[in-house]
Amino acid sequence: MNWNRQHLLDLQSLSAAEITLLLDTARDFRSFGERDVKKASTLRGKTVINLFVEPSTRTRISFELAAVRLSADVINFTAEASSLKKGETLRDTVRNLEALGADFIVMRHGASGAPHFLARFARAHVVNAGDGAHEHPTQGLLDVFTIRERKGTVRGLKVTILGDILYSRVARSNIWALLKLGADVTLCGPPTLVPRVFEKLGCRVVWNIEEAIRDADVVNLLRIQHERQRKSMFPSIGEYASLFGLNQARLRLLKPDALIMHPGPINRGVEIESGIADGPQSVILEQVSNGLAVRMAVLCLLAGAGSVPAVGTVADGATA
Ligand code: CP
Repeated sequence: MNWNRQHLLDLQSLSAAEITLLLDTARDFRSFGERDVKKASTLRGKTVINLFVEPSTRTRISFELAAVRLSADVINFTAEASSLKKGETLRDTVRNLEALGADFIVMRHGASGAPHFLARFARAHVVNAGDGAHEHPTQGLLDVFTIRERKGTVRGLKVTILGDILYSRVARSNIWALLKLGADVTLCGPPTLVPRVFEKLGCRVVWNIEEAIRDADVVNLLRIQHERQRKSMFPSIGEYASLFGLNQARLRLLKPDALIMHPGPINRGVEIESGIADGPQSVILEQVSNGLAVRMAVLCLLAGAGSVPAVGTVADGATA
């Protein structure tokens, strides 16, 4: 199939075939980082602006690196030092960035729906790098990519997402991608953060961690999103860690080949014990590496470069 969308705003609106095309394209890019010359000319002459109004390490750096490796000009917009601080609207900001030649706006914003708003008027490609508690589509893609690479398929796997589901954009993007690709999804955490309404999406809701992880092929742990919670959703961090943290006793309940995932940043000792985050079942840093391939694939497909150039022609003068 061919990619024919101008923007990547969410995974909810993508078909299974579109998600699969993104994952297959990312697979072609995975070996890119092993080449001597990590450069392709695909986006030469294009300008990518990273407009991050919320903090980020992994997403912003990997979008920047993806764009650089594809030979785009990359500008990192610093919200704190911008005229947003003087009251300029997001719409005016983006129109000005387009007047300066932006071809891609990669945006992280605290307001759910902000990238959808931009897409109503933007000429540039809009890529959602996380909007409020709504979606984080490239994180969802890199998570299912990591699962598919490790397990061979997503279909039929039991995936448990554990933690702050209510306020997590990562959870929503994971849920959409996993369900569309045929996984069984279990959500677990305190009832205040995992309301039964998620069952309407097709997920199983379980409030007992031992039950949620026992049969899982994958356990994806999420950070408590304090920055989005207006009131306390559980008595204390210590109580959360004792009831829902992945510790050594709970690790022993897991299948030996179950994958342990986390989108980062990790709060060590809260949702996961430090030794488990760094242990043999953890694929946390693999997720980060795969994020680069996924973001290269996203930029290429949006630019209309539907297929990855063959090895030896990707980089000017480079060989694999
Ligand atoms: N997973 C993730 O979005 O991390 P950053 O906030 O560091 O980008």
